[in-house]
Amino acid sequence: MAHIESYKLIYSAAVSKIGRLNFDIYYMEIFHNTLKNATSLSKVILDGETVVGFALLNENAAFRGTPSGLELTYLAVTPAEQGKGYGTMLLQHILTLQYPNVWLEVSGINAKAIGLYTKFGFRPWRHYGTKADPGIIMGYVPKLRVQPPRRCGRARPQTDGIDALLAE
Ligand SMILES: CC(C)(COP(=O)(O)OP(=O)(O)OC[C@H]1O[C@@H](n2cnc3c(N)ncnc32)[C@H](O)[C@@H]1OP(=O)(O)O)[C@@H](O)C(=O)NCCC(=O)NCCS
Repeated sequence: MAHIESYKLIYSAAVSKIGRLNFDIYYMEIFHNTLKNATSLSKVILDGETVVGFALLNENAAFRGTPSGLELTYLAVTPAEQGKGYGTMLLQHILTLQYPNVWLEVSGINAKAIGLYTKFGFRPWRHYGTKADPGIIMGYVPKLRVQPPRRCGRARPQTDGIDALLAE
């Protein structure tokens, strides 16, 4: 049975390996710098004693005008274990941490990751990059999920200016 734990230094080698198996070599230096600074806010998911996935998290992060919130800097599951619900478990856990918003950057061609984030209610906040190498900032605002729409349909829930960032 899989379970989630806070990140500790003893998991760095396993996380590094999963990162290398998933991410482009071009981005490895940035990934390892992020991993070096990871705190217990970040999470790993273990099947027994084996780390099968991780989420590196960054608090009070803001990017290109997005509101300050929790940044999901990296999310990955070891390739042989993908499609078994580990990514879902990690994301579910992150959304229980009660941040006013959670956001991330994802490649516009990463259909699997976009599918996962969309399933949880993440929506595009910004598109950037080029047609050949598109990037998306996706965000999740818990308030938007729990507040019912007003009956008249005019006034929308107060979301601290985040509405303006959401794509229609
Ligand atoms: C993205 C990733 C973390 C998902 O983890 P996972 O454990 O494989 O995902 P799960 O099994 O929990 O969930 C799969 C969900 O992804 C989505 N998904 C899977 N394949 C998909 C596809 N081809 N197209 C669209 N959505 C897809 C679905 O929403 C699916 O949920 P469902 O089974 O209820 O339909 C994992 O695939 C991974 O490590 N990818 C490589 C690294 C990466 O791209 N990280 C994200 C960078 S932002």
